[in-house]
Amino acid sequence: MAHQPIIIGEYSVFLEETNSTNDALKILYSQEALPDGAVLYTNFQTKGRGQQNNVWESEPGENLLLSTLLQPQFLLADEQIWVNVMVSLALRDAAEELSKTPAFIKWPNDIYVQNKKVAGVLIENVLQGHRMRFSIVGIGLNLNQQQFKAPNAQSLSVISGAWIDPKPARLKLLEKLTHYYALLKGKQHNLLWDLYHQNLYGKGKLALFQQNGKSFEAEIMGIDKKGRLHLLVQDEIKSFAHKELEFIKILE
Ligand code: BTN
Repeated sequence: MAHQPIIIGEYSVFLEETNSTNDALKILYSQEALPDGAVLYTNFQTKGRGQQNNVWESEPGENLLLSTLLQPQFLLADEQIWVNVMVSLALRDAAEELSKTPAFIKWPNDIYVQNKKVAGVLIENVLQGHRMRFSIVGIGLNLNQQQFKAPNAQSLSVISGAWIDPKPARLKLLEKLTHYYALLKGKQHNLLWDLYHQNLYGKGKLALFQQNGKSFEAEIMGIDKKGRLHLLVQDEIKSFAHKELEFIKILE
């Protein structure tokens, strides 16, 4: 029998304010059964969380703040990378279409437009034995905020010069997530892999990195199936986990 297509956001919960949509969705899921692709979104987070224990900055009502519950139980524990790949592609497409400006995936899953970060993703995976049980995918997409504390942050509105209507923007993102999740469920791994690399920020370029306080230059080659970044450092290919490396800037 053919799979029923999963429509991400068909089941959606809106909260005017919450601590973090990732945390609120996790609590909701511990209290009741939720469908694959359930979404929780808000206008304001009092404790928005970024990667590596950072705070996610977002003024009330200005940006998209949502989390989706994915239940990709067809993925093995060592295939978690595919959630990251499909979500990054969906968010990149949405950012590019909404800003009408080329958007790129900065490894592992930031979205960059005009060398500025316009979106971030916080994925929290829960395993069951050797399979994935569920994944809470938190997405922050900067739509209309005009000023940011973080020097590398920007909104699509500042880039495009036009106000971005949040509801169609959310629907576009959900449509893209639905599309790429269907590709993942349909085992279109080669296509997803190629698209990720075609849209990888700085691919084939020389960039400046830092590791343990030391700067070095390297060419960005791509990622592997463990999600590690491969760099060409002085004629040698080396791979790095996200926590091991700080990306400073593209040099060319
Ligand atoms: C990053 O550091 O780049 C990841 C940022 C992720 C932010 C989003 S906003 C919605 C969801 N809820 C959170 O607390 N964080 C994610």
